[in-house]
Amino acid sequence: MDQLKRQAAARALEEVRDGMQLGLGTGSTAKHFVELLGERVAAGLKVIGVPTSEATRADAERCGVKLTTLDEVDHLDITVDGADEIDPELNLIKGGGGALLREKIVAAASDRMIVIADDSKWVPTLGKFPLPVEVIPFGLGATRRAIEKAFADCGVSGQMAVRKAKDGHVFVTDGGHWIVDAQLGRIADPASLAKALSAIPGVVEHGLFIGLASSAVLAGGEGIRVIER
Ligand code: A5P
Repeated sequence: MDQLKRQAAARALEEVRDGMQLGLGTGSTAKHFVELLGERVAAGLKVIGVPTSEATRADAERCGVKLTTLDEVDHLDITVDGADEIDPELNLIKGGGGALLREKIVAAASDRMIVIADDSKWVPTLGKFPLPVEVIPFGLGATRRAIEKAFADCGVSGQMAVRKAKDGHVFVTDGGHWIVDAQLGRIADPASLAKALSAIPGVVEHGLFIGLASSAVLAGGEGIRVIER
């Protein structure tokens, strides 16, 4: 599996040119990309990156990739990031690693977003992977009720749980927020659900990435498949 992730990362790296400003994703697949990018940088490639998490910042620094922020650059050429699920329209569920807010800001600031994954992430319909919803801790009861209503309005339902870290404490995002994971099973209309969740005041962001990915690089036993939107 790890080999497939690295192959997808290597294929995305072929799109990177000298002088590019890059968004650097988060997660085990994106980490391969950062490591391979670091090798190219050591060989003379000149790029600058915006990390989507503190973890990726640390990886990029370790790999010698020069970093900047979205305040210093006016746009990004390409963001390369992983995903938890990818559907045939290249809608995504992201946020399994908890970095969905910065990932979405960075992807939206990019001319292109390339999603890299092993082909187990490819699904006919989103929803088997629990949908992460990043929330403000204040007023969480009310926010949860509003999220449940949004689910009902969009024809989905399922258990919700506040994400816990490995040490048993509540998981806190890089932005200081909490994440509620919702087991929805099947999301028939992800675009409507994305809109409904975005309208809830206590919701900071959610893991539905609609219309953001321009292409997906999927590595599987049979080789690499590139799907363009
Ligand atoms: C991080 O918040 C996520 O969006 C990741 O991009 C996603 O969970 C994919 O991670 P892996 O590459 O580790 O599967």
